[in-house]
Amino acid sequence: MTGASQGTVRHPKGPPLTMTEGRLGAWLVAILDSSVGAKVVVALGGIGLALFAVFHMLGNLKIFQGPDAINAYAHFLKHDLGALLWLARAGLLGIFLLHVVLAVRLKLRTMSARPQPYAYPARSHSHLAARTMALTGILIGLFILLHLAHFTFGWVHRAEMNGQTVHYLDLKDAQGRHDVYTMVVAGFRTSWIAGIYLLAQVALFLHLIHGIPSTFQTLGLQSRRTLRTIRVLGVLVAGVILIGNCWIVTAVWSGWVTPP
Ligand code: HEM
Repeated sequence: MTGASQGTVRHPKGPPLTMTEGRLGAWLVAILDSSVGAKVVVALGGIGLALFAVFHMLGNLKIFQGPDAINAYAHFLKHDLGALLWLARAGLLGIFLLHVVLAVRLKLRTMSARPQPYAYPARSHSHLAARTMALTGILIGLFILLHLAHFTFGWVHRAEMNGQTVHYLDLKDAQGRHDVYTMVVAGFRTSWIAGIYLLAQVALFLHLIHGIPSTFQTLGLQSRRTLRTIRVLGVLVAGVILIGNCWIVTAVWSGWVTPP
């Protein structure tokens, strides 16, 4: 009898795995390795990321309620959630990485299976968003890196206060909380930063108007009857995120939202 049939699966170089671990690992690898499995994981990850974008935008709209509302909200997220914050951050990062890595691998597989593009281009209404998924994905990835460097680490730009330059993370309100309101105002009063954020929102919109209907199709939830409704839903969700985020940026940039 071999080792495998006795209840263990041996990796040539690694320690022996128990049957359960080996089966679970092999099952996961098989799912991620199959194109259908990878598509389903990309679709589920996309749902998670889109939901994050909606909730993040709704939270950021608190800027219109004034400094206290948004500073209290940011303080709650960062200090009152405890380990849950780190769990959510790790989950978000994991989902993001899986989404990107599997989507890139699927794209490379499709390209190597069909190196020549179709002689007849696809129908025009789905054109731009569908054909630019990889490009808009890269732009969103770059934006997220810039966004973290800008607001989470304060590496990109500094705020001006009483004639002094202050690091974003040193901005405090009267209650000693991180002054996210002043930070966001300082950020979007700077035209080139506001411009980059607005362009990134267009990339996100294009990515979502194709990504949302694709998710329904991959999960087998799209039929001829629901096709139109799903497309409308995609445009609605993507449009709400676009309008909400652009509203924040332009309201600050134009001076409608003023420093405290
Ligand atoms: C106008 C649009 C946006 C505004 C005003 C905004 C604002 C912020 C702020 C203030 C933070 C830092 C919170 C803190 O450390 O106290 C943050 C973090 C973050 N934002 Fe945004 N954001 C915007 C759009 C986006 C978009 C479109 C995405 C993704 C597609 C995004 C993804 C993130 C992520 C991943 C973090 C890090 C969360 C964490 O540290 O746990 N943001 N955002």
